[in-house]
Parts: sequence; C-alpha cells; structure tokens
Amino acid sequence: MSSSVFFCLLFAPFLCSAQWCYQGQFSCEDKCRVPSEWFRDSPECGGQNQSPINIVTRNVQYDPSLTPIIFHGYTDAMHITVVNLGYTAVFYLPPSVRIHGGGLPETYKAVQFHLHWGSENGPGSEHTVDGEQYPMEVHIVHIKERYNTLKEAMNDPMGVAALGFFFEVSPVENHKFNKVIEALGRVRYNGNRTVITGFQLTNMLTLLENFSSYYRYAGSLTTPNCNEAIIWTLFQRPIPVSQQQLALITSKMLFSTGKPMIDTFRPVQNLNERIVYTSMAYPSALSSPTTLLFCFLFIFGLL
Ligand SMILES: *[C@@H]1O[C@H](CO)[C@@H](O)[C@H](O)[C@H]1NC(C)=O
Ligand SMILES: [Zn+2]
Repeated sequence: MSSSVFFCLLFAPFLCSAQWCYQGQFSCEDKCRVPSEWFRDSPECGGQNQSPINIVTRNVQYDPSLTPIIFHGYTDAMHITVVNLGYTAVFYLPPSVRIHGGGLPETYKAVQFHLHWGSENGPGSEHTVDGEQYPMEVHIVHIKERYNTLKEAMNDPMGVAALGFFFEVSPVENHKFNKVIEALGRVRYNGNRTVITGFQLTNMLTLLENFSSYYRYAGSLTTPNCNEAIIWTLFQRPIPVSQQQLALITSKMLFSTGKPMIDTFRPVQNLNERIVYTSMAYPSALSSPTTLLFCFLFIFGLL
C-alpha cells in the first residue's frame, strides 16, 4: 500500500468536511463529498423537492396557465463577464434581461447562465426526459426583481426562475454558439475571468419561435446548498450543437483540483409528491391534424 493511500484511509474521516464535488472528481487524494453525500454538509440536498429530475412525459399534466414566456433583453448585445468558479463557468447577465408570463407569479431578472456537460461523447444534461440524458443543458437563472442577490432570492420558495434548454448533437455546427465556446477556452483555470463583448442570448438560443412548449415543476438548485427555491422551466425543443463543438466544450476547462472539468451534472432526484406540468395541450402523438379534425367533429356532434 502506498503511503499516500494509507494516509488517505487513515485521515479520511477527518477530511470529510471537505468541499462538495461531482461523482467523477472523487479520488482518494482529493477527498470531496460526492452527490450522494452532499446532504451531510448541506441538509437541504436531502430534501423532498430536489432537482434535477427525470420527466416522464406520460405522467405530465397540462396546465393552460403555462402561456409562452415573454423575453426582454434576450436579443440585446451585451458585454458579459465569464468566471471559472472551480466547478463550472458562470456567465453573468445584466438585470435588463428579464422574463415574465408563462405562469410565473411576477417578473424575474436574469443573474447568470451556466452549462452542464458530460465527456466528449457522453451524456451530460442534468434533467432527463423519459430516461434520456442529453449531451448538455444550459440553465439561465433569474430572480424576482425585488431581490438584489441570488442568495436573497433563495429564501423565497418561488424566488428563482430557472430556464433549462437541452442540447442535441447535430451534423451541422451551431456557429452562434462559438462565442460561448471561445470564452470557456479563456477561463481554463479556477478563478480565471474574461469578458465577451457583443454577446446576445440569442447567440446561444436558436429556435426562439419554439419557446412555447415546455415543462414546469418546483425544485431546487442542483449544486449545494440545493435550496428548494426554484421554479423550473424546461423547454422541450433541444438546441443543436455539433459533436466537434461538444468535444471542444468538454476539453477546455479544469476543476479547481486541476482535473479536466467533465461530467458536471448531478444525478436525477426522486420526484416524490410533485407533479410536472406542461404547456402542451396535446401529447405530440395526439396533435396530428387528423386527430384534431376527429376531435373537432366529435365535439360538434358530427360523429
Ligand atoms: C488563470 O489562472 C491561472 C492559475 O491561477 C493563472 O496562472 C493565470 O495567470 C490566469 N490567467 C488569466 C488570463 O487570468
Ligand atoms: Zn445548473
């Protein structure tokens, strides 16, 4: 047994108040709390309303109040700061970026966005749909306008509105995403920061016209302290990104430990008593024109 392994076994119990980490980061030298142990330092991570979850589309409930979300500032060109926090890269957004509608109780202003990814060819999203894990997921985090910080908003069970978009591999490069990828390359090490000039959120979110189909549920932050203060909105339509782009994203950054920053997702949590709602009146199989015609004829007593 090497002395470092011996040291590790001997002292592990005393080093256990170490930092939290994702599953892939754990090693004997780098004692850290993996997701299943996060609750030891952050009790809320063991709560009943945790995120992410697997969305079972057969069980989602249609909610007619889930109208299209109204976006402000999403097409503005902005200068935004990007920082490597040691476990992710955060892209800070100005409060002029706002959302309302979509069944949200009030207007929310943006704070930041960040991505969750896997390894070059592996799965990487946090939420899954019918068990399918997408290669990447972006979270755009907003707080109620009356709050000044994310921390302040966390004390309100509906204080935060997070928008999640999945990515899917496409044969065609998504040129609009390259500004984000280049910025990741400039914040390789923990604490590095850079500025992107002339950035538009629509650089990242193509398909703006398709934002009316989404899922909604009440959940938590997906990193400690796992605060149960988040109204989640997950858009059904994934954003295309090429395999080469994914390979670049997953290779550019390092964790605070110096290891490659990959597999930055928390495993799915139990749904428990919660219901996942949807803005989509008809499950996709039922929304064909023929089915709609039959429904129409039936309603008017023609059949
Ligand atoms: C990034 O962080 C590393 C390690 O702390 C440091 O040596 C380097 O100068 C930083 N680079 C920039 C551009 O800030
Ligand atoms: Zn996230």
